[in-house]
Amino acid sequence: MQNNRVSYKELGLQNSRDMFSKAVNGGYAVPAYNFNNLEQLQAIVQACVETSSPVILQVSKGARNYANQTLLRHLARGAVEYAAELGNPVPIVLHLDHGDSFELCKDCIDTGFSSVMIDGSHLSYEENVKLTRQVVEYAHMHDVTVEGELGVLAGVEDEVASETHTYTQPEEVEDFVTKTGVDSLAIAIGTSHGAYKFKPGEDPKIRLDILAEIEQRIPGFPIVLHGSSSVPQELVRTINEHGGKLKDAIGIGEDQLREAAKSAVCKINIDSDGRLAMTAAVRKVLDEKPEEFDPRKYLGPARDALKELYMHKNIHVLGSNNKA
Ligand code: G3H
Ligand code: 13P
Ligand code: ZN
Repeated sequence: MQNNRVSYKELGLQNSRDMFSKAVNGGYAVPAYNFNNLEQLQAIVQACVETSSPVILQVSKGARNYANQTLLRHLARGAVEYAAELGNPVPIVLHLDHGDSFELCKDCIDTGFSSVMIDGSHLSYEENVKLTRQVVEYAHMHDVTVEGELGVLAGVEDEVASETHTYTQPEEVEDFVTKTGVDSLAIAIGTSHGAYKFKPGEDPKIRLDILAEIEQRIPGFPIVLHGSSSVPQELVRTINEHGGKLKDAIGIGEDQLREAAKSAVCKINIDSDGRLAMTAAVRKVLDEKPEEFDPRKYLGPARDALKELYMHKNIHVLGSNNKA
């Protein structure tokens, strides 16, 4: 197995270390966009090249199973070459999103990922520290960076008490980062995964006060925000106007994310907004042109919509434009 190891360095990828220190000092956040297919990757690379933004290509366990890890690795290598071909070789990280075991993280490190997340947020504090430490030790031997998580996001990540958030306790963060050696820390401050982050009538606010307290305890340490889609209402409307059924989908206001990006938040995870943009574009084409059956005729517009979305995020939400 050792002989078959593929280092991310051979693929032209980077780990997240420099990217994060620049982002923390520069008052912006690096986009972490999930992908599992060609059109998403094309849109991400085109958008980041045109806005000159560093980027984290994020792959979940489910995405890895869906797309095949070997194909994904070659796509990531392709992304590096494609960016150069487009004339702007922006820095690219290939990151495992929500790794749930040491074995999965190890497998990703051994097959070309430059960064992994070990999500021990459902475990007891001690178990989370132990598992995260184990992943850090292996990852750092290979110069791969590690993201840990403290606190539990409501929604799909919190199967036990899906109604409530378990916010990160600021008094735990220093101990956690010291004991584990992680390179960045995902925190729970009221964001959540998916398209239904708040109920109608709820005040859609995240706890920037907890973020500020965490920042005081670990100044300059790279913080990560998951569940940071804004669920643009025009996309929800387009989906519903063309046969979709998304009721009361509500996301995080872009102004709050912009505020967070100016602080020690240096990585912002966005997946659901991309899903909405693709779905809206595909539904529109298939509804308005029922005679189309060439996938390029609906995936092409979906790719264009995604690219526009990512350019908007980079420039107006993360502030990562011109930071490559
Ligand atoms: O955090 C979850 C990401 O949006 C990935 O979702 O597990 O359905 O690929 P997935
Ligand atoms: P969203 O569902 O808000 O896009 O969050 C994505 C995410 O956190 C991936 O890890
Ligand atoms: Zn997440």
